[in-house]
Amino acid sequence: MDPDVHSRKILVTGGAGFIGSHACVALIGAGYLPVVLDSLANGNIHALHRIADITGVAPDLVRCDIRDAAALAELFKAHRFGGVLHLAGLKAVGETVADPLSYYEVNMAGTLALVRAMGNAGVRALVFSSSATVYGANARSPIPEDAPYAAVNPYGRTKAMVETMLADLVQSDDRWHVACLRFFNPVGAHESGLIGEHPHGRPNNLMPYLSQVAIGSRSHLVVHGTDYATADGTGVRDYVHVMDVAEGHVAALRHVAREPGILMVNLGTGRGASVLEVISSFERASGRSIAVHVGPRRPGDAPAYWADASLAEARLGWRARRGLDEMCVDSWRWQMRNPWGFDGSAPTARNAEPSAH
Ligand code: UD1
Repeated sequence: MDPDVHSRKILVTGGAGFIGSHACVALIGAGYLPVVLDSLANGNIHALHRIADITGVAPDLVRCDIRDAAALAELFKAHRFGGVLHLAGLKAVGETVADPLSYYEVNMAGTLALVRAMGNAGVRALVFSSSATVYGANARSPIPEDAPYAAVNPYGRTKAMVETMLADLVQSDDRWHVACLRFFNPVGAHESGLIGEHPHGRPNNLMPYLSQVAIGSRSHLVVHGTDYATADGTGVRDYVHVMDVAEGHVAALRHVAREPGILMVNLGTGRGASVLEVISSFERASGRSIAVHVGPRRPGDAPAYWADASLAEARLGWRARRGLDEMCVDSWRWQMRNPWGFDGSAPTARNAEPSAH
């Protein structure tokens, strides 16, 4: 096996984003040195300053597009990476239907450029951020990893196609070590309240919307459908704490350092929670009551799904340790401390600013 797999320097694409920034914190905690590649299209420079506040280590930032082959070649020349966490990509489900080509360009061509640069540099340990969205709306829960691909939108199809491309690559060359992590619904924030999720504009997802209602920047939450065949009629999802997801990346990195081939693996708790359960938990966490309106079902929504989380435990030695209440407490702490997200906030790093190349 390539000895560089053991190098502590890890490239994190999308490292200034929601999951990427938490992954950097977990990496540093485990003794790795993340180098972040991010275009800052969705990620935020302040996230890197906050990582420094939390960990005492300021990751270097390489600000470039994941499709920029020349920049990638230079980056792999400048550093000897032990592996790559690939989180950069587009992920807005609404937008993906209106603008599928951008999704294929960034998610597919971006990964292709990255993997080419890795191969040229002899770095063949890769952890790819995939999504449970590859299973589509009709998979039977708990969903095992061998459920078929059945994504219902272009975003989900780009994830399935990247997984397929990586499987073909591994098939062609046994020097590659790859793990594809299929996240269920990552929510919450680092317990410090210094990093978290702040989507641009109106949030599409439940937890950020709920947080904005609780803080008073939105008047009420619309519950999208109360007539599903679930215990309380609302949609059920497998919410998983973003720090558990971050720790899952570290476990996957250790796995690819040991084992060749490709592993597709779910990162979820194995337990579903309904929209009403999430609302109650958030009300307890925040001590505020959430104004709720009942609306119609959201087109394309699945009634209920959650992970079979057993493979992650068996192969990665990973399981989610944090429950729904902790997810809500941590989301709320982040929201309270950063009512407008990172924007408008002064950098708080005690340490040197990350260098922008
Ligand atoms: C969405 C994405 C999925 C992505 C995931 C990331 C879709 C179809 N899928 O999943 O690809 O990986 O986010 O976390 O968008 N809800 C409300 N009111 C709201 C918002 C949501 O009732 O204002 C309900 C939804 O109907 C659903 C649940 O809350 O039952 C969770 O929704 P959301 O947070 O948007 O996640 P997903 O739809 O599961």
